Amino acid sequence: MKVDMSLSLVCQNVSLYRRRAGGSGRAILKHVDATLNAGEGAMITGKTGAGKSTLLHLLAGLRRPSQGQIIANGQPVSRWNTVHRDLWRRQVGIVFQHPHLIDEFSVLENVILPMIPRGASIAQLRNLARESLESLGISHLAKQMVSSLSGGEQQRVSIARAMVSRPDILIADEPTAHQDDEGAALVIEKFSGWKLPHTIVIVAAHDQRWFQHGNFADKHFLLEDGRLKELQ
Ligand SMILES: Nc1ncnc2c1ncn2[C@@H]1O[C@H](COP(=O)(O)OP(=O)(O)OP(=O)(O)O)[C@@H](O)[C@H]1O
Ligand SMILES: [Mg+2]
Repeated sequence: MKVDMSLSLVCQNVSLYRRRAGGSGRAILKHVDATLNAGEGAMITGKTGAGKSTLLHLLAGLRRPSQGQIIANGQPVSRWNTVHRDLWRRQVGIVFQHPHLIDEFSVLENVILPMIPRGASIAQLRNLARESLESLGISHLAKQMVSSLSGGEQQRVSIARAMVSRPDILIADEPTAHQDDEGAALVIEKFSGWKLPHTIVIVAAHDQRWFQHGNFADKHFLLEDGRLKELQ
């Protein structure tokens, strides 16, 4: 398989401090180094509070590290100003740990919304959104209000929303946490299928089912108390 080596995502000596109520700082991530290349799937595991979600937010360009940098395709994304970072973020799809859907809107509208600034016609967006819902087995929910969905259904909508723009970098935080075995198998298969010569897929999960189905994880990282180790 020909691999497009131009896509890479590197975490270089990344630390993140958070201020406590009293004023003293606490390191949430400590000197994290990681390299992800095109075609790879990376799994990040670790106990509750280890810093998985925080690391994913940094990788997605949603916040800056206190120290160190995030480098995408050789460019220091974490140092860019907001306009450049926003443009870069269009290549990134993120599934948050909590779905962050808009209750007042339908499923289809929720999936379409993030695509609107990109200038495609609403008809095109509807088609893309329907395909994305279909691929997650929830096209029958398109017209429902998200507030009426189960937790597992909402989670699949949030995955469809992250995938609809066909991001080269797909980042997901516990995307099977609310899925039964059938749903988890579908989601894992979908993420495994997203690994292509020009993409990087990163998943944080406690869920052991990721290791039972297929071959998602080319790299497996363990976060312990803010420190990242690559397991062999
Ligand atoms: N906004 C915040 N302010 C201060 N501390 C925070 C904030 N967000 C997270 N933390 C702390 O950072 C640490 C890492 O949190 P994070 O959510 O990244 O963990 P996690 O590994 O994703 O956990 P889980 O498995 O429960 O999702 C935790 O101790 C948490 O309390
Ligand atoms: Mg988390």
